[in-house]
This record gives sequence, C-alpha cells and structure tokens, in this order.
Amino acid sequence: MSNYIANDTRKVTTHRLWEMKQRGEKISMLTAYDYTMARLVDESGMDVILVGDSASNVMAGNVTTLPITLDQMIYHGKSVVRGVKRALVVVDMPFGSYQGNPYDGLASAIRIMKESHADAIKLEGGKEILDTVKMMIGAGIPVMGHLGLMPQSINKYGTYTVRAKDEDEAKKLLRDAQLLQDAGCFALVLEKIPAALAAQVASSLDIPVIGIGAGGQVDGQVLVAQDMLGMNDGFSPRFLRRYADLHTIITGALGEYIRDVKSGDFPNEKEQY
Ligand code: KIV
Repeated sequence: MSNYIANDTRKVTTHRLWEMKQRGEKISMLTAYDYTMARLVDESGMDVILVGDSASNVMAGNVTTLPITLDQMIYHGKSVVRGVKRALVVVDMPFGSYQGNPYDGLASAIRIMKESHADAIKLEGGKEILDTVKMMIGAGIPVMGHLGLMPQSINKYGTYTVRAKDEDEAKKLLRDAQLLQDAGCFALVLEKIPAALAAQVASSLDIPVIGIGAGGQVDGQVLVAQDMLGMNDGFSPRFLRRYADLHTIITGALGEYIRDVKSGDFPNEKEQY
C-alpha cells in the first residue's frame, strides 16, 4: 500500500480547484463526518473533504438522507473542520434547509458557514433552486452544485437507478449545469449518470466537475469513505472501487479482543499500573 504525498501543503481553495481543472490535474474528494476520519483523510493529501448528508445513512443508520437536520450537519461540519489543515471542506445543506424561500436557504447556509467554519456548501438541484444559489453566492458563500441522482429527491423518483438516460432529462441536466456555472458555483458534483453525458458536461463547463458513478472523463472523483474502505459490507454498486476490507480487519480485531478478555489474557502485567 502506498501513501500519496500532496505536492504542497498549502490550503486548498476554490480558486486552486479551478487551476487544477485548467492544467488537467484530477481532483480527489472523499466524505468525512467526524474529527478522527477527517484527520486521516486530510493527512492522506485529499483535495476536498465533503461532509455529506450521507451522514444520515452512514452515521445515523437512516434509510435516506432526508431526516438529517441542519443542527446535525453543523455538528458534523465542526467536527471535520477541527481535524483538517489542508483540504477544502464542503458541507452539504440538508433536505428542507434550502428548497423553499431563498431567504431561508440563505439563512441556513450562513449558519453552516458561521458555526462550522467550513469553506463552502453543497446543495442539490438546478433551475428550481437558482435564486437561492445566487443569493448565497451574492452573500460570499462558495456553492458547489449537485445534479444527476439527487438522493434528497428519492421520494419523487422512487429509485436510485442511473439518471438522465433519456434525452429530455439529459438536456435538462446540461441546461442546469450551465445555469449553475453562470450563477457562480465554483464546482459541480454529477452523481450516477451516463459517462458520455458527464464528459459532455465537464468539457462544456469551465468549473471543475466531480463525478460519482459518472465515469472517468470528468475533473475529479468523489466516494463515501466507509464504502471505499470496505466498512459497508452490503453496498456494492458498479461504480464503487473498494481500496480496503476494513469490515474483515475491524471484526477480526474485535474478535481477538473479545477472546483475550474472556480468556483473561488481556490485560497482562505490562498493561496495568
Ligand atoms: O452526501 C454525500 O455523500 C454526497 C456524495 C455522494 C456526493 O453527496
């Protein structure tokens, strides 16, 4: 296993991500929801850490991302920021905190920025939330867009299958991506769409396009840390590459601990006062 050493230790900014796209350097992005994982991810040289609302599933065991609250996202955001020196930290705006009145959306984004000290926020949607996005950017808040599969809309679609396979949906996605860039978003996440469409979006936009299940012809990739580390045994979509089998490693270590406790082997004389 090899460690990746980032070229420099300067803080990653939205401008530096834009520069990376210009020179064709791919952007690495991963989720973290807590201090300990954030330190590991940051020390590995990751460019962007996403405090995803997938914390709702991964941390709290909910079936969807919908139940997580603004207060809970701020708690996760604060915990992550405390562990990060270099990566750009982006906090997801939770369901219900921005889909209505743009002023309420702005107030939610301001709370995230003020209380978590994150560098930016991310939200799902295109044309429908454009006024809100513009208001946030007008207030000086860097916004990352998110199109394609939008888990906060799961109840509208009823399935997590690949999005924008038909022409109308693909056209809408292309229009929304352009609108988000024109509104001033600094980057865009594309989730679970055909690789050819994602490549088209990435080549038509100046801002970095980060994919998850969107193929390799985009400007960077994002995954959920627990999934790529193999902690989440039951989840194996086609787009996921597993870089470790922590499920086996962790349950193995825990089993050994239990055996040592039961047998009286732990603690030994050197492990006591
Ligand atoms: O919440 C999340 O983890 C995300 C990624 C899947 C992009 O939005």
